[in-house]
Amino acid sequence: MSSASADPVAALAALRAEAEARIRSAVGREALQQLKTEYLGRKAGRVTAVLKTLPSLDPEARRVVGQAANDAKAAIERLLEEADAARVALEGGTAGRDLTMPARYAWRGAIHPVTLVIDEICAIFAELGFSRYVGPEAETERNNFTALNFPPEHPALDMHDTFYLGEGKLLRTHTSPLQIRVMETYQPPIRVTMPGMCYRRDAFDASHAPVFSQVEALAVDEGITFVDLKASLSYFARRFFGRETRVRFRPSFFPFTEPSADMEVECRICHGSGCPACKNTGWMEILGSGMVDPNVFVNVGIDPEKYTGWAFGMGPHRMALLRYGIPDIRMLYDADVRLHDQFVDAV
Ligand code: DAH
Repeated sequence: MSSASADPVAALAALRAEAEARIRSAVGREALQQLKTEYLGRKAGRVTAVLKTLPSLDPEARRVVGQAANDAKAAIERLLEEADAARVALEGGTAGRDLTMPARYAWRGAIHPVTLVIDEICAIFAELGFSRYVGPEAETERNNFTALNFPPEHPALDMHDTFYLGEGKLLRTHTSPLQIRVMETYQPPIRVTMPGMCYRRDAFDASHAPVFSQVEALAVDEGITFVDLKASLSYFARRFFGRETRVRFRPSFFPFTEPSADMEVECRICHGSGCPACKNTGWMEILGSGMVDPNVFVNVGIDPEKYTGWAFGMGPHRMALLRYGIPDIRMLYDADVRLHDQFVDAV
């Protein structure tokens, strides 16, 4: 093959590579049309021009150059078709659509408000040196009642109040049995928060649920007094509800604490002036508490002469209602995205 006939083949290869690159980066119908004319146009196309030289070549060169020119033409045609199909798909994708329509909402999960409250309670006490402990929802009657100093005739033991599972087991009615588990597992000093779900045969209404959360706390050490209880819980209330929040303690009774006290915070809705939410008292009860009864220490093998302790149990479902101004506890069980969507950015 002469060098004269090799040149057009090399030139065709270069032409083809150049066309390929330009077609791939071309945008829009017009640009593709122009490239088609430039390379394959009948009159002035650059590949066409090579084809037009074929009759003047000797037979061997005609065959070689002809082959290369036809290959180049076919390849460029195919690329143009592909690029055009891609263009049509892209533009056709929006044709006939209303581009002013709102974008489709991408759903994001949110942390449940009760979980937020539980984590916040535990975090505040973690700063005070409390660790976190969890245990089973199916408890023994002994841990749930007997070891906590409930007398056998106590109304809480009634079949009407408690879900019994048989064989001495029940669905725990509070998180206090976790106190028993902790004190039978660890020696004082003890400082621990214990969140968990609890079960009672209560009807679902605006302020009650048969399944609800509690956070229990327990501090056991030498020399702990009621002053520590009041100080720790007052501090917590101010951290959780705000610095200005007023609290008060009222005498109460629980079998496992002596003395016992309920803590109330100034109503979050009327700030003390009285409203339906606080039944016009200006106060809302958020937890039960007290000094650990010596009988409980004896039941778990801790020396009540040496150690004292305080404990409390509070309801994060109730706290979530207060915290976020949610009017009905059932909304916390409904899984309605209109509620949960409002907590997407809460961390
Ligand atoms: N377990 C009690 C209840 O469910 C709440 C409670 C009261 C827990 C006093 C305590 C406590 O730890 O000291 O009503």
